[in-house]
Amino acid sequence: MKKFVRLNVVLIVAVLIAAFSGCSEEVRPEVFHAKGTVVAVEKEKGVVTIDHREIKGLMSAMTMDFKAKDKKLLEDIKKDDPVEFSLSKFGEKIEIVAIKRAGENKAHGATVYKDNCAKCHGDKGEGKKKGIPLIEGHALGHPEEDFLKQVRNGGEKMPAFAEKLSEKEIEAVVRYVRNEIQKGLRKDGVHEH
Ligand code: HEC
Repeated sequence: MKKFVRLNVVLIVAVLIAAFSGCSEEVRPEVFHAKGTVVAVEKEKGVVTIDHREIKGLMSAMTMDFKAKDKKLLEDIKKDDPVEFSLSKFGEKIEIVAIKRAGENKAHGATVYKDNCAKCHGDKGEGKKKGIPLIEGHALGHPEEDFLKQVRNGGEKMPAFAEKLSEKEIEAVVRYVRNEIQKGLRKDGVHEH
């Protein structure tokens, strides 16, 4: 029994030390800016679930619930909206301090492609020095799931994008490659939406 008591005292002291050293640090809210797509909104609770891109210095791309500093911030936000938002981090507390709808999702896949893929695969998928063409050969035969995997995990000479892009963006860029860049070229392209 005694042993347990001693252990408890040690634990309490450790917790107190941790708590106080936390306080003595200068705590100022840090602000981060991020982009993502709304997966769900609970306006009454002031909670929004966002599939977001990497937030530099804070976290990698993932789907996560965020609390809004003020419920009113979420008034105009709906499911599937592409959004830009700002987070403040105060100690462990992270909340949304600003959020707005970003440009429409239509051009999204095209933008992701232009920003991340074109330098290797070419604006029209024609291929460049560092990347193979996407409009001929193998690239036309692979199913969508292979494309998604390739983009998430990368390849021998292609970087992985799972950390850099959100899953929604990966889906959007793959859809763009398949439906726009490879339009009319693929043999299996019958039931594409
Ligand atoms: C640094 C250059 C580079 C970048 C950036 C890049 N790729 Fe690649 N990609 C390659 C190379 C090289 C290959 C050939 C195979 C390998 O290395 O895995 C490839 C292969 C592919 C394939 C497989 C084609 C097949 O034969 O089935 C797809 C699909 C693809 N890339 C899509 C993309 C998309 C979409 C992006 C942007 C999100 C992208 N790549 C960004 C270099 C790149």
